Amino acid sequence: MAPIRLGVNVDHIATVRQARGTSYPDPVDAAVLAIEAGADSITMHLREDRRHIQDRDVREFVARARSPLNLEMAVTDEMIALACDVKPRFACLVPERRAELTTEGGLHVAKQPRRVAKACQQLHAAGIAVALFVDPEVKSLDAIVETRAPHVEIHTGRYCDMTDAEERARELKRIADFAKAAAAAGLEVHAGHGLTADNVGPIAAIPEIVELNIGHSLVARALFIGVGEAVREMPAAMSKAVRSRARPDPATATPPPTPDSCSATSGPGPLCL
Ligand code: PXP
Repeated sequence: MAPIRLGVNVDHIATVRQARGTSYPDPVDAAVLAIEAGADSITMHLREDRRHIQDRDVREFVARARSPLNLEMAVTDEMIALACDVKPRFACLVPERRAELTTEGGLHVAKQPRRVAKACQQLHAAGIAVALFVDPEVKSLDAIVETRAPHVEIHTGRYCDMTDAEERARELKRIADFAKAAAAAGLEVHAGHGLTADNVGPIAAIPEIVELNIGHSLVARALFIGVGEAVREMPAAMSKAVRSRARPDPATATPPPTPDSCSATSGPGPLCL
């Protein structure tokens, strides 16, 4: 297994179910298969409009599986209350617009710093480690750090959608620069959105990125080869790139945050669990 974690997003198993209003296919069954095949965690995005994942899916996964759930959620009172009740291990705060096809950009933390910081505090108090889903803009890092969220997830959607090689290389550099700056600021760095076995390599090769969350392409692949095989293919694609990662110079590398460097509810530093 590659030394980078794989979170599998099962939203689109639920999309097929909701298209007909049937009881199948069950995203929780798919999640269990994904874990058995080596996924490190499962992501479910409980959207406000409940277009795919339903409340029951989230509760059932937490009740049935021992593996961590990463609950993607909007920064709303309803979602915060639900998360504090269900207590997933992780939550990822995302922007949400009802008309969008998918999450079309990162959270604008600097526009709502107090709201995001308060959500992080509430979730932390419930024992949930929070990631903020953001665009790779170094200038927004100060606002992100001020929320004291321990994790950040970089939106890789633009990189994945780009077809022009030069533009793509520029976006990849933007992601790598942001990952480096975020890790130096003490954040654990994740990435996701639009990743496939074909485009994941250069992202997995960024040394500061320790977790990738992948859904749509994996579910699409599972239609042909099954959930287990689709999950097993992904670490292979990731680890090929991870082996070629430039190793950071131990003399200058920033060590990962330790429990001691993570304060509880007061003082500076991330809200680590
Ligand atoms: N990470 C976040 C925060 C997301 O919103 C999504 C999409 O739900 C993903 C990862 C997974 O993206 P995809 O389904 O394109 O792999």
